[in-house]
Amino acid sequence: MKYNFDEHINRYGTYSSKWDGVDSNFNGNDLLPMWVADTDFRVPHEVVEEIKKRLEHPIFGYTLPEDELYEVIIKYVKDMYDWDIKKEWILFTNGVVAACHIAVRSFVNPGDEVMIQSPVYYPFQKLIKANGAIVVDNKLVRNEDQYYMDFNDMRSLFKTTIGFGGKIARLKAAILCNPHNPIGRVWTEEEIREYAEICMENDALIISDDIHCDLLLNDNKHTMLAALDKRYEQNSITIIAPSKTFNTAGLKGAVTIIPNEKIREDFAYTQMAGYNSPNILSLAALKAAYKYGKQYIEDINNHVSNNLEYFTNYINENIPELTVIQPEGTYLVWVDMKGLGMETEELNKFMIDKVKVATDFGNVFGEEGAGYQRFNLGCTLDTVKECLNRLDLAISEWRNNR
Ligand SMILES: Cc1ncc(COP(=O)(O)O)c(C=O)c1O
Repeated sequence: MKYNFDEHINRYGTYSSKWDGVDSNFNGNDLLPMWVADTDFRVPHEVVEEIKKRLEHPIFGYTLPEDELYEVIIKYVKDMYDWDIKKEWILFTNGVVAACHIAVRSFVNPGDEVMIQSPVYYPFQKLIKANGAIVVDNKLVRNEDQYYMDFNDMRSLFKTTIGFGGKIARLKAAILCNPHNPIGRVWTEEEIREYAEICMENDALIISDDIHCDLLLNDNKHTMLAALDKRYEQNSITIIAPSKTFNTAGLKGAVTIIPNEKIREDFAYTQMAGYNSPNILSLAALKAAYKYGKQYIEDINNHVSNNLEYFTNYINENIPELTVIQPEGTYLVWVDMKGLGMETEELNKFMIDKVKVATDFGNVFGEEGAGYQRFNLGCTLDTVKECLNRLDLAISEWRNNR
């Protein structure tokens, strides 16, 4: 390992949402932040150097992506995901959520439906509703201790139903989260093909949020939907970003890949209403991260895999009320805490008042998430240990008081 992800870096006083904002956000006190998806890791040295280089010029006017940036992105996508993309397919956006929002705004009319798969990253619901569209939930199914897509249910969502409770199918787009936040599945090629075929048969545009694609635990392999078939390529929007992997979320920025010319033009037209040029420093970070980041990716994945192993073993051995759902990707881990027998609000309050660890409350990701908490393991092993220590103490006390 070249990178030391166990280095303690004090983030207090840096206006970090995760650290400086934790107590006020959760109305708590001295909380350990294991929420919000950014890591406590230093970004690669080359990212800092590239930003510094740009800072040496004292003018920060509107900017153009440089040719080398396109080359770096094309090479990165080919090397990592075996997808040949073209320069003209690449658009820059202010972030992944922004790109999803622009896509829904461009291709879904108010009153139309957009499919998500809960439990899932909650801004999807918000952006669908903010565009006057209707959220259609193809809920993931938990089988034993893993989650799967329910393709029969997915097919039924595209059908018009008659009789009581009947409705006209208006499902125009689907947001795929791959790897899936919060449950950490890295969808297999087979699953992605089935998902894509159902969408294709029903003329639904696929918006594939691949922001976590580099973050693969153990031996899991990421499959990019559009890379599998030219037909999928022509019917999808793929969004990637360096922000989760390289910890640059505060710089904002994402790469949106749209092979279909008409879709790309319509997307760009909508985007123009609120965007005219990328952020200069974000482009500098993007170039350096994708150009020099391979070792960083390997090391972060090893580090998070080790954190996950420690976290899982500790819970299995000491806290039988909890079940760790094994993520295949991301640095997020979904923990079933229903064994504590608490109601949703009681459990959330318990995390803040007794455990004193700030997690993302499971119910926020969809109603099926009630009784779960999402922990962020993008931190030092010491932070993982501190989190487990706090959990163990609070749950022991809860057991004693029963
Ligand atoms: C699946 C997913 N998409 C998008 C985002 C946010 O991306 P951005 O900050 O670029 O909007 C996150 C952040 O956690 C995420 O998990």
